[in-house]
Parts: sequence; structure tokens; C-alpha cells
Amino acid sequence: MTISTISTTPIEGQKPGTSGLRKKTRVFMQPHYLENFVQSIIDAIGGVKGKTLVLGGDGRFFNDRAAQVILRMCAAQGAKKVIVGTGAILSTPAASNLIRQRGADGGFIMSASHNPGGESEDFGLKFNGANGGPAPEGVTDKIFARTKELTEYRIMESQDVDLSQPGRATLGEMEIEIVDPVTDYAALMETLFDFDAIRALLADGFRLSFDAMHAVTGPYAREILENRLGAKSGSVVNAKPLPDFGGGHPDPNPVWAHELMEVMTGPDAPDFGAASDGDGDRNMIVGRGAYVTPSDSLAVLAANAHLAPGYAKGLAGVARSMPTSRAADLVAEKAGIGSYETPTGWKFFGNLLDAGKATLCGEESAGTGSDHVREKDGLWAVLLWLNILAAKKQSVQDIMDAHWAEYGRNYYSRHDYEAVPTDDANALVDRLRGMLGELPGQEFAGLTVENADDFAYLDPVDGSTSKNQGIRIAFTDGSRIVMRLSGTGTEGATLRVYLERYQPADGELSLPVEDALAPVVQAAEEIAHIREYTGRDKPDVTT
Ligand code: G6P
Ligand code: ZN
Repeated sequence: MTISTISTTPIEGQKPGTSGLRKKTRVFMQPHYLENFVQSIIDAIGGVKGKTLVLGGDGRFFNDRAAQVILRMCAAQGAKKVIVGTGAILSTPAASNLIRQRGADGGFIMSASHNPGGESEDFGLKFNGANGGPAPEGVTDKIFARTKELTEYRIMESQDVDLSQPGRATLGEMEIEIVDPVTDYAALMETLFDFDAIRALLADGFRLSFDAMHAVTGPYAREILENRLGAKSGSVVNAKPLPDFGGGHPDPNPVWAHELMEVMTGPDAPDFGAASDGDGDRNMIVGRGAYVTPSDSLAVLAANAHLAPGYAKGLAGVARSMPTSRAADLVAEKAGIGSYETPTGWKFFGNLLDAGKATLCGEESAGTGSDHVREKDGLWAVLLWLNILAAKKQSVQDIMDAHWAEYGRNYYSRHDYEAVPTDDANALVDRLRGMLGELPGQEFAGLTVENADDFAYLDPVDGSTSKNQGIRIAFTDGSRIVMRLSGTGTEGATLRVYLERYQPADGELSLPVEDALAPVVQAAEEIAHIREYTGRDKPDVTT
């Protein structure tokens, strides 16, 4: 088969963000765009000659075409083997698992996660290393540097490889193994959780609803929840993955998963509701009438993980991203285990997990996971919750109430201002940076600033530092405001304002969240002049 060397020129803006490169699908579909980026990845990792790689994606529009290009480029550059999910589909955690199980050198994951899919929506590509986790910053920096100097790429000329069935194929010398996307992942879940106990719970009339949001977890959830655990047929809804996710926004939060929220607050609500995102790494947990914030979910999972066989030995430590509420810290403190605060982005957990410092990790952006893979894992979180519910025989609300009564409650909310002109968003952040030194001691909306900084992270494992990771303003009563610009948007800038207020165990534990946070919201406005800079009088999305 012919290998072509194609001349190209660098394309602007191929800088990987929080989680790989995400752009409008049509941008990715431009001539050379995908090829340039794939070649830059290949060059940055020292080539793929003789390597085994994993390939899969969330099935969004262009997933199938991109997979063929990546296969032909790997074949042209001497890769030994690519393991690919049927139809080029793999959820992100399943891809991470396959990389680890097969001892692969890394993998390409095609996804823009929770961003909408379709020809006019978003596409994305990222590279994960041999530990199964997203490439660390050192590697993504190299990839970006390479995109700026690229002059050619190599690709094999060939027909499409038939990926529609599990089996084997070859492309030139390169082997291709096509695997069922669900099998290995489901087997891993069976090793971590007490499937018998969950089966008994479900047989006992416990009802659940899992919303796959027409995204990649549909087949995974059907197999695990319905076929293996015996949830009633139809418990998994919107289970058929579609290239445009049915026109929806596959982000599991109360705003985008409102269909599920309506079911869970309705008259015939099941006992447990959950949803996952485009590529299956995020989760939303909701009890009957009781939404669990991702930050609280992490804390509850940390406090109860020992009830699942995979974590019966207890946890080495718990890590959370900086904007995630400090609820998990309180659990770690009481348990006398390590607790870590990292920048936003799952890749920062990789070293802590590899070094055995943290067992559980979580983010306010609806991601929770553990050392079983090196990505966050939506269905894993659902199964751990079910395992805990089966062991405790309490409702979700009762578990939350008991948790707060023991540790206190970190009221929490995130306000997003989307598609803000980049200059305005940068100006807001620059102004805050400039005033950090003056904030301590000042009072806003009755709250006194204790300290304020721009978060910098020193990785305790490899000693690397990551600066400018977000503005943190802490108040003397334990409240906190964090402000940062999203690293995953594809249009203008998204300002995220994270609001937190702590009430101790003997404080007010059942206030409406909005009321509890009102002074913190007001302080954020007084400090940052959000309305003035964004031109909005309220956030576009509140979660
Ligand atoms: C992706 C990453 C997460 C991150 C999230 C939010 O889902 O995998 O680790 O927390 O994006 O990122 P953003 O920069 O948009 O706040
Ligand atoms: Zn995702």
C-alpha cells in the first residue's frame, strides 16, 4: 500500500485545552486540520513505530471519518497494532481501561466530552499515555509546539477498514483488533462492586432511571444495569447513541439533564436517578427529589467507599480539583488520610493515582473516579453509589442528611457566563490578579476576606508547577469564591464563578442553596464587577 508524505503548513490555534483539542466539527473537517494535529501528537510522543495504541471515541459526528484517518496515519508510521472499539466507539473510561489492560503505549480518544455534537457543533481529540490517563502538560506543550512547525505528515492510501464487527484486520503491516467496547469495561466493574448486593437491592423493588443522553454510555448502561444487575428493562433511557446526541447537550447537570430532573421530582419518582455525558466520564446523581452536587457526591463516596469490595481496604487519599468544594477534605481529615487540591483537569490526578497517594478523585464539573482507570468514570460513580445504597439501605436523601450531620455542609453552586468576548473576560481576571494583595481584611456583603491568591500547583510527585490556575478568595467564615476561565469552550471565553459556603454540623443544614449562597454571590459581584465585564445581569448557566 502506498504511503504518502503530504506537505502542509502549521495551522493556528491547535493548542490542547483542559482535555485535548476541541473545536467546531467543521474546523476539524478542514483540509489537513485533523492530520496536522495527529502528526503533531505522533511526533511529540517520539513516533509510533512498533507501538500498540488504542483508538475510540464517543460516536459523535465525524468520529467514524476521523478514526479512519488516524488508523491510516498510524499504519503509515509503523505502528505495530491498534486496538479499536467496534464502530470506533469507546467511552473515555473504557478507552483508559483498555490502554491499561492491554499494556498499550497510549491511545487516541475522539470526543468533545459534554459539548454538543454534529456537523455544526463540536469535535475533539486527545492523546492518553501508557498509564491510561490524559497526556500531562509537558506532553501537550510539546504537541502544541510541534503544530507550529509542522511541514508534512504521512498517511497510507487505502480503503476504509471495516470496523462494524469485532474481529481482526490489517492495514499494510499494522494489525487492527476490533473489540466490543463494553466487555472489558463491564468485567472491570464486576471486580470492584458487589454485584450480588446491587442485584438484591433491585430485585427488592428499588427503582432507578439512568439517562444516557443519546451518548456513548447507552450500551454500557444497558449491559451493566439492565442485563447484569437486573434493573427493569427501560431503566436506561435515551440509550441509543446518536452522532448529534439527539440534538441535545449531553452534559449531566440539572440544566441539561432536565428530563431526568423532572422524573426525579415527579409524583412517581424512582429511588435513584443518574446520567452521564457524551463520552461517559461524567456523572450526575439524584435521589428522589434530591440532587447531589458533584462536590458532595465525592465526599459521600469517599466516606463510604469501603462498603464496596474494590475499596474495602480503605483509601490512600482523596484528591479534588481546586474549584471543587472542600467537603471531601473534611472526610479525608477525619479519616486521617491524604487530601490533595489540584488544578482543574483530570490529567492532574494522574501522578497522584500512579504514586498511590490518592485512591478517589473528583471535580465539581461532575467527574468522579478512582485508581481503577486514569480518567473520571460516570458509570463507575453510579455503581459505587448503588453499592453504597445497597449496603446502607437508606435513601439518597437520608445518606446526604447523615453526611452533613457528621461533617457539616458545604453549600455550593457554579455560575457560568458563556461566550464572553475574550478580551473582556481576560480584563476581569487581570483586574482581579492586580488586586489580590489588597483584598485580605476587606469586607464584602458582610464577609471578610481571609486570603486571596491565584492558585499555583506544585505536583508532589514530579515537582512540576502549574501557575495561574484560578483566583481563590477565602473568607473568614469558611466561605469561598473561585473564578477562572474555562479551558474547554470553543467560542469566546467562559467565566466560571464557583461559590461555596460552609455550615458546621451544628449549623443550618437545610437552607435552600440559593439563600445560603446569597451573600457569597453578592460578594463576588462586588469584588469582580461581573456584570460590567460580561455585560450580563445573570449567569447563562447555574449548576
Ligand atoms: C473536562 C475535564 C475536566 C474538567 C472539565 C472542566 O471535562 O476532563 O477535568 O474539570 O473539563 O473544564 P473547564 O476548563 O471547562 O472548567
Ligand atoms: Zn466527558
